[in-house]
Amino acid sequence: MFVVGGSASKLLSKELAKSLKAKLATVEIKRFPDDECYVRIEEDLDGEDVFLVQTTWPDRNIIELFILQDAIMEFDIGSLTTVVPYYGYARQDKQFKRGEPISARALAKLIQLNTDEFITVDVHTPTVIDWFDDVSAKNVPGYPAIGRHLKSKGVQLVLSPDEGRAENAKRVADVVGCDADFLVKERLDGETVQITPKTLAVKGRNVAIVDDIISTGGTIAKAAEQLKEQGAAKIYAMCTHGVFAGDALTRLKAVCDEICSTDTIENPTTCVSVASEIARIAKD
Ligand code: R5P
Repeated sequence: MFVVGGSASKLLSKELAKSLKAKLATVEIKRFPDDECYVRIEEDLDGEDVFLVQTTWPDRNIIELFILQDAIMEFDIGSLTTVVPYYGYARQDKQFKRGEPISARALAKLIQLNTDEFITVDVHTPTVIDWFDDVSAKNVPGYPAIGRHLKSKGVQLVLSPDEGRAENAKRVADVVGCDADFLVKERLDGETVQITPKTLAVKGRNVAIVDDIISTGGTIAKAAEQLKEQGAAKIYAMCTHGVFAGDALTRLKAVCDEICSTDTIENPTTCVSVASEIARIAKD
C-alpha cells in the first residue's frame, strides 16, 4: 500500500502513511517556467492500493490533483482512494443567483473520473459527497482531532459561532469533557458578520470557539471580542480548515490566546493531525 502526497498535503500524507502502515511514495512535483505543473511518481505502483492526498485549495492544487490521479492510473494499481482533506469550493454548493455554477458539484464530477473511492474531511456542506455518485465517498469528522488538542489545554467551555454547528461543538466538548454552547451569527457580507450578544457562563473560564473553516477570521474575531468583554480567561480559536485569507491571522492574534487548525490545510497554526481519523474510516 502506498500514500502519494500532493504538494498541498505533505504533512498529512506522511502522517497518513504512518497511520495506515503504508509506504510514502517519492514524487517529483515542479512547475515549468510558465507555471504549468509537472509530476512524476518515482515508485512502481503496479498491484498496489494507493491513497492520493491533496487539498483542492488554492486553485493550482486542483490541477495538481488531476494530473497525480492520471499518473497513478498509468500504473496497473489495485485501487485508488483520493483523499481531499480540504474540499475547496464546497461553499458554492447551490445556485445562489441565476447564471452561477454549482462549483462544488463541478469539482465532484471531475475528481470521481479517476478514482475508486473518495474521502474528505469536515466538508462545509455534507451533501456535497452525494455528488460522488460513481464512487464510494466518505466525509470524515474533524472533531475528534480538535477535541484531542483541546483536552490538554484546560478548556472549560466549547462554543460554536452559530447554531448550525452547535452539534459539532457539543461533540468536541464531549471529547474534552466540558460544557458546550453556541452563539448566534448573521453574515452581512463576505467579510462582515454580526454576532448577537448573548450572556454565557464564561467569566474566568477558558473558552474554545470551534468552526469548520476560518477564512477572513471575521466570525471568530467578533465572537472572541464578546467573550473577552464578558470576562473569559483564555480564548482558543480552533478550526478544521485554516484558510486565513488576507490579514485573518493578525486580526485573530489580537483577540485570541491560541489559534489552531488541523493539517487539512498546512499552515503555521497547524497543531493537530486528522490522519488517524482518515485511516480509521478508510479501513471501514
Ligand atoms: C460558515 O458557514 C463557516 O462555517 C465559517 O463560519 C466561515 O467560513 C468563517 O468565515 P470567516 O472566517 O470569513 O468569518
